[in-house]
Amino acid sequence: MNELIKEDTSLLLTITRFGFSLGFGDKTVNEVCISNNVDVYTFLAVVNFISDGSNQEEINHRDISINSVVVYLKNAHHFFLDFKLPLIKRKLIEALDETVQEEPYRKMIMKFFDDYVTEVRKHMDYENDVVFPYVLRLVDGKKDPRYNIAVFEKNHESIDSKLTDLKNILIKYFPAQYPNYLLNEVLFDLSDCERDLEKHNRVEDYFFVPITETLEKTLNEATVELANGEKVDNLTDREKEILTGVVKGLTNKEIAQHLFLSTHTVISHRRNITRKLEIHSTAGLTIYAIVNKLVTLDEIKSVIE
Ligand SMILES: [Fe+2]
Ligand SMILES: [Fe+2]
Repeated sequence: MNELIKEDTSLLLTITRFGFSLGFGDKTVNEVCISNNVDVYTFLAVVNFISDGSNQEEINHRDISINSVVVYLKNAHHFFLDFKLPLIKRKLIEALDETVQEEPYRKMIMKFFDDYVTEVRKHMDYENDVVFPYVLRLVDGKKDPRYNIAVFEKNHESIDSKLTDLKNILIKYFPAQYPNYLLNEVLFDLSDCERDLEKHNRVEDYFFVPITETLEKTLNEATVELANGEKVDNLTDREKEILTGVVKGLTNKEIAQHLFLSTHTVISHRRNITRKLEIHSTAGLTIYAIVNKLVTLDEIKSVIE
């Protein structure tokens, strides 16, 4: 782990967002992940994605722990809202105090910044309160029919562009008193934060969303299978009687006579049985009937011999 960080110190942000504290000693990435209850494949996938925007096709979505990704994203929100933006605000106030600008001018800048923070908070609160709980319920196999990740994807906006505006206002139009060290510090922080937010957005759009889509797809397939499974048990008593006749080798006419039905009705019931069970051959229906104890082996011995 130590080597990984030495190679790229910006990884410190990622590591903290996975909940790791410093003091790794000689522990490997695997050991650190295990001791922090974080899935190592997911950790490395996020690290690679952030450092080189690694190809989504190389990532096996089904091997990603969404729980770990949600922890990562939530901690990032906490970092921006409760640490980075308040820190920039404190530095900005100090830097503006140092300038020669009139009070209303400074006030306008602060209002711009505060409005921006309100916007970011709204954006992140929505993700924390709506999107992440929805996704965590998906992990538990529960799909909320009123929502899907495509809604989030469609409305998800980038939140770093206003920081670029603020940076440009300060650089181009806000005459500061020489040597303006404090204002420079603010500009460095704004650039850092802008880059970091842009990466955060990218992780959400191109990592979190596709992985959630795969999970939704898997869950939908499972639901369809379940629905088919329910149909198996949903044969009506009449259909069971007809099925029994079929596997005993009776013709439609014989079944109709035996049950006092028209041949036409028997054919229609047989069509429903085939559709519900998705079994078309008599041999297949025979196996189904035995497994579900509709007939005994002895009863159909003469037919299958
Ligand atoms: Fe976010
Ligand atoms: Fe977001």
